[in-house]
Order: sequence, then C-alpha cells, then structure tokens
Amino acid sequence: MEAPQAQAKPEPLLELRAINKTFGSVAALSGLQASVAPGEFVTVVGPSGCGKSTLFNIVAGLEEPDAGGILRFEGKSCHAADLLGRISFMPQRDLLFPWRNVVDNAILALEVEGMPRDQARAKALKMLPEFGLAGFEKQYPNQLSGGMRQRVALMRTFLFERDLMLLDEPFGALDALTRAMMQRWLLDVWQKYRRTILFITHDVDEAIFLGDRVLVMTARPGSVKLEQVVDLPRPRRPEVVTSPEFVRLKRTLLDAIEEESIKSFQSSIAQEKPQ
Ligand SMILES: Nc1ncnc2c1ncn2[C@@H]1O[C@H](COP(=O)(O)OP(=O)(O)OP(=O)(O)O)[C@@H](O)[C@H]1O
Ligand SMILES: [Mg+2]
Repeated sequence: MEAPQAQAKPEPLLELRAINKTFGSVAALSGLQASVAPGEFVTVVGPSGCGKSTLFNIVAGLEEPDAGGILRFEGKSCHAADLLGRISFMPQRDLLFPWRNVVDNAILALEVEGMPRDQARAKALKMLPEFGLAGFEKQYPNQLSGGMRQRVALMRTFLFERDLMLLDEPFGALDALTRAMMQRWLLDVWQKYRRTILFITHDVDEAIFLGDRVLVMTARPGSVKLEQVVDLPRPRRPEVVTSPEFVRLKRTLLDAIEEESIKSFQSSIAQEKPQ
C-alpha cells in the first residue's frame, strides 16, 4: 500500500496519454500527453496546423482519437464521446447566429440542454454587466464590435456551467488594445468563477500573461514539446510583461516555438514542390 503523501498533488481533472489522431493519410496528433489540474489555467501554443483544434475537438467529445490512447476525465477513463456536453467549448470561430440577439445567442447551449427559454434568459440577463454587455441584450451580432462579439461567445461558454472550459483562440481577431483589455477581464472572471481553462493562442505574451502553465506543441503531428510553468504572481498586472521573469519565459518559449514553426514551414514547402 502506498503511504499517504502530505502534499499529494490534486488528481488531474483531465489526463491525456498517448493520444494519436489521423485523418486519412494526415497524422494530426501523435503520442500527445498532457494533464490539467482542477482550477488551472493552461495555455497552448504551437505552429499553425499542428493539431491544437483537433486536440480540443477530442476533449469536447466531437472527435474520437485513434485506438490505443488514454483519456481520463475526473479520474475516470472515458471515450471522447462521453465528454460531449460535459465540457464548455468555444470553437475557433465565434459561431454566433446572426438572426439571434445577444441574449438569445448567449443562451444557446442552455436551450440545447433543455432549460426553458425564460429561465435561461433570466440567467443571461444577470450576467450581462459582467461581460460588458449591459444594455446590448437586444442587439444583433452585426451591430456589435469584434470585442463585444467575443464577449457574447464567452458568455455563452461561461453560462454553460462546466468545470472545464476550452477556448480556441478567443481573442485572435481582436486589435492589440482590445485584446489586452479582454485578457485582464478574462483573468478577473476566471478568478471569480474558478473554472479550469485550456486556452489556445498564437500569441506568446498572451500565453504567459494568462497561464499557470504553457504547453508548446510540436509541428504536425502534434505532441507536447515543452511544458513551461509560469510562476508569476497573481493577480497579474499589465506591467508584468516587462519584468525580467516574463522576458526570460518569453525567450524560452519563443525558441521552442520557432524551432517547431521552422519544421512546419519546411514540411509545407516540401509538400508544395512539384514531383
Ligand atoms: N476533420 C478533418 N478532416 C481532415 N483533416 C483534418 C480535420 N481536422 C483537422 N484536420 C487536419 O489536421 C491538421 C491539424 O489541424 P488543426 O485544425 O487541429 O490545427 P491547428 O493547430 O488548430 O491550426 P491553426 O493554428 O491554424 O488553427 C491539419 O493538417 C488539418 O488539415
Ligand atoms: Mg486551430
């Protein structure tokens, strides 16, 4: 019997081992290994096409990995399909319905789950101020700025109350200033709601500023190349980005990402060469 450990790590909320995923002749993921602790904010960076969204589709239960991998959620081994509806997921495109107003877009996942519309709307209305959308409940997506659209999509994800949230490049399309404000706002909301977050980004500053840990993925087929702990105190202030510790982390991560991006670029050039 194992002796109980005084400072045992909490059981991971999510654990992935030896995950492979192929699409026909394309190997998207190979031997991917990762685990996420309850309440953790983990950011994921890696070259374009390395399999980040594929990883999220698996954890959200939308794609099954190839046979042989191990997927565990809340300590239990499971298939990806078992996770469908148990994870909140904001896909890479915001997927707001143009014919639904702000509130009705935000409650979509609740409605799909079977919550009566009035009850779902009441819940969403309460959340609007926190998401910077007070007074905008009747507006349609085409009447909103990019930052507001993203907040509606995020509100939809938060309203679907699950322990694990997957956010696939939620701020990718925003200008730098709006993005910086959204990052700070997301950290505030995360600290209040204490969800576990997996967050994909192409922006290394964003990955460090938000994360407890940064996972750097290899070029395709993707696996985890580097797990970097971000030991910066919270709450994180905007000026942390110029601290020596932040700069040091950025250097390490950029080196790892660059190495993989070059591989990814070289293989895309090789594929384009005429035979
Ligand atoms: N449903 C699918 N069918 C066939 N190929 C797919 C499918 N989904 C993803 N792929 C392929 O798998 C690889 C990884 O794609 P994925 O979208 O996961 O990458 P990514 O890291 O999210 O890229 P980006 O940073 O550009 O968003 C790509 O080569 C892609 O074309
Ligand atoms: Mg993607």
